[in-house]
Amino acid sequence: MTYQLTIEPLGQTIDIEEGQTVLDACLRAGVWLPHACGHGLCGTCKVQTLEGELDHGEASPFALMDFEREEAKCLACCARPMSDMVIEADIEPDPDAQCLPLMDFTAEVVRIEALTPTIKGVFLRIEGEPLQFQPGQYVNVWIGKEATPRAFSIASPPSAGEIELNIRLVPGGSATTYVHEQLQVGDRLQLSGPLGRFFVRKSDPRPLVFMAGGSGLSSPRSMILDLLESGDPREIVLVQARAMPPSCTTATPSRHWHGSMTTSRTCRCCRASPSKATGPESVAMCTTSQAATSATTSAAGAPTCAGRRR
Ligand SMILES: Cc1cc2nc3c(=O)[nH]c(=O)nc-3n(C[C@H](O)[C@H](O)[C@H](O)COP(=O)(O)OP(=O)(O)OC[C@H]3O[C@@H](n4cnc5c(N)ncnc54)[C@H](O)[C@@H]3O)c2cc1C
Ligand code: FES
Repeated sequence: MTYQLTIEPLGQTIDIEEGQTVLDACLRAGVWLPHACGHGLCGTCKVQTLEGELDHGEASPFALMDFEREEAKCLACCARPMSDMVIEADIEPDPDAQCLPLMDFTAEVVRIEALTPTIKGVFLRIEGEPLQFQPGQYVNVWIGKEATPRAFSIASPPSAGEIELNIRLVPGGSATTYVHEQLQVGDRLQLSGPLGRFFVRKSDPRPLVFMAGGSGLSSPRSMILDLLESGDPREIVLVQARAMPPSCTTATPSRHWHGSMTTSRTCRCCRASPSKATGPESVAMCTTSQAATSATTSAAGAPTCAGRRR
């Protein structure tokens, strides 16, 4: 059965299926609601019910207390409709948000690269309709026999054609261990996206500073490559932290972004220039990255190595 869900203060009415959560219905309709854990534990998705009946589902009694239930509050990630509903959510309109609808996809693994000893680059070709996303967003991926999906940020820009994920091995982690030990080229994965509210405010003309470590570089990488491609004139500074034994700095190649930079900027780390780069992402050795150091990339001036290591 299909009900009607109206979201205030937007005044937008969308369809919601019986058994579907309020959050899922909103995201699939391109209406963003604040959320985090996605399963009733954190309370980030709390909204006010103005009209209608609902089932609170698995909402934790700590995230949604009894008195809040009596005040007709609910957790959007757990609440399922039992009638047409009207909710009021704390939504701040953002002129830079593209409000892309959440969709389900099947993707084929076309390439797997060892970026560091603990991070694999997994390249996916989406089957059917392309996955549209804003640089900085992430996808939920069903891996192996895991019942619940795992979140991974998209490391490639929207222009890439392939979706690149940089997946760090979590010691004892079931999904990331599967990726590092069993995932093969040719495997097909289910995923849903885009998700997340992390993107560049292009309407804000101020310079940009990104801070990232390890596979946390994925989102900044997608955003920075997209900015460079679009010829964004602003200064871009990337501060990258990494913690690794010194031996890794000479044993593992780091991928540089020189080829993607549009000017003849020279890397402050290894002094490589775009002319020395062999492609958009040439493989080069950064000799100055030592253990637990941080590097700074100024895309407007002389960039240092934007290495791909945690
Ligand atoms: C929005 C978002 C974007 C993300 N993007 C990326 C990304 O681009 N690349 C990436 O490698 N990871 C990313 N992560 C983290 C990634 O989702 C987890 O590392 C992954 O779900 C772990 O799954 P697992 O099955 O291997 O571990 P699980 O079996 O789920 O967990 C095993 C143990 O490790 C702990 N654990 C789980 N994840 C982490 C973690 N990240 N750090 C420390 N301890 C952890 C758990 O609490 C548990 O004790 C992202 C997470 C979020 C929420
Ligand atoms: S998103 Fe955490 S409780 Fe709903």
